[in-house]
Amino acid sequence: MIDFRSDTLTQPTPGMRAAIANAAVGDEQKREDPTVNELERRGAEFLGHEEAVFLPTATMANQIALQILTRPGDALLVERHAHIMLSELGGPAAHSGLLTIGLQGTKGRFSPDQVVAEIRDRTSVHVAPTRLVSIENTHNSAGGRVWPLEEIDALVATCREHDLAVHLDGARLVNAAVACGVDPARIGGAFDTVTLCFSKALGCPLGALIAGSQELMHEARRGKHFFGGAMRQAGIVAAGALYALDHHVERIADDHARARRLAEGLVDAGVNVDLEQVETNFVQIDVGLDRADAIERLKENNVLVSTTVHPTIVRAVTHLDITDDDIDEAIAAIPRALTRTEVPAAR
Ligand SMILES: Cc1ncc(COP(=O)(O)O)c(C=O)c1O
Repeated sequence: MIDFRSDTLTQPTPGMRAAIANAAVGDEQKREDPTVNELERRGAEFLGHEEAVFLPTATMANQIALQILTRPGDALLVERHAHIMLSELGGPAAHSGLLTIGLQGTKGRFSPDQVVAEIRDRTSVHVAPTRLVSIENTHNSAGGRVWPLEEIDALVATCREHDLAVHLDGARLVNAAVACGVDPARIGGAFDTVTLCFSKALGCPLGALIAGSQELMHEARRGKHFFGGAMRQAGIVAAGALYALDHHVERIADDHARARRLAEGLVDAGVNVDLEQVETNFVQIDVGLDRADAIERLKENNVLVSTTVHPTIVRAVTHLDITDDDIDEAIAAIPRALTRTEVPAAR
C-alpha cells in the first residue's frame, strides 16, 4: 500500500530509533531530563523565541496558547476551517471560556481588514472583547497552503496596532518555512506564541513544542500541568525530536518536490488536480461526487488517500515514508483507479 492519508503516519527511522534508545533521561517535571531541556533550548531558538515547552501533542500546545493569551469571556478570531475550529472539540470554549469567531478564509488565509471588522468594543461589559487572533501555517484543510511572509507581517502589524495577541498554529511550520526559503524562526518569532508538531513532516512518533517569551512560557508550564501533559522520563520522546531537528528539516523539500511531481503526473493523465494549490506536501484531487467509491477504488489499486473538508476532494500527502518509486507507481495507479471501465451491456 502507498499510504498518502497523512504525514502523521510515518514510522521512526532506524537512526531515530537509535537516538530514542540511547537517550539520557530524568524527571522532566523537575526539569531534570537533559534531553527535554536540550530540546526546549534548541526548540526556542528554532522557533525564534526566548523559551519553549515540550508537550505531547500540538492540540495541547494550541489549547495552552489560547488559555494563556486570553481570559474567559474573550473572543478568539480564527479561520473557519482551521484545526482549532474543526478538530479540537470546541476546546477554546471548554478550556478557556472563549467565544470563537470563524473568519471566512481564502486559501486558509484572512486579511487585516477582516480582523479589524471583528474588533469589538472592549469598554462594554456586554460583548466578548476580541483578544486573540490565531492563524494556521501551513493551513491543513486548505491543502497545506502557505501564508506569504508579507501577509503575515501585515496581519501581525494590524493585530499589534489594535492590541490583539497573535498565535501561530505552526503544526506544519517547517513545511511553510521550507516553502518560503526562510528559517522557521523568521515566521514563528513574529507571534506571541507558536505551536510546532514533531509527529507530522518531522517524522517523530509524538511530541510538540509551544514557544514564546519567558513570562508566557512560565504560564505555559502551568498549563502543561493543568492539561495533564507534564511527563516524567520524556527524554525518550524528546530524543526523537532532536534527531528530527538534525536530520529531517531540509529533507522536507523532497516531500514538496514529490507532491509536485505527483500532481503534475496526475494532471498529465487527466486527473482533476489544481496545480496552483500544491505549495507543500499536499495534493488535493477532485474525484467528483462519489468520493467514498473513489477512495475504495484507489484502495483496490494499493493507494490510500483521505477525505478533506471539501465534499468532492480527497488528499494525498507526501511524507518521510513516501519514495520516488511510490510517486511513479501512484501516477500510474491513481488514473487507472479513477477511470471507470464500463461493462458492456449483454446482448
Ligand atoms: C494544523 C494542525 N494543528 C494541530 C494539529 C494537532 O496535532 P496533534 O495531533 O499532535 O494534536 C494538527 C493535526 O493534524 C494540525 O493539522
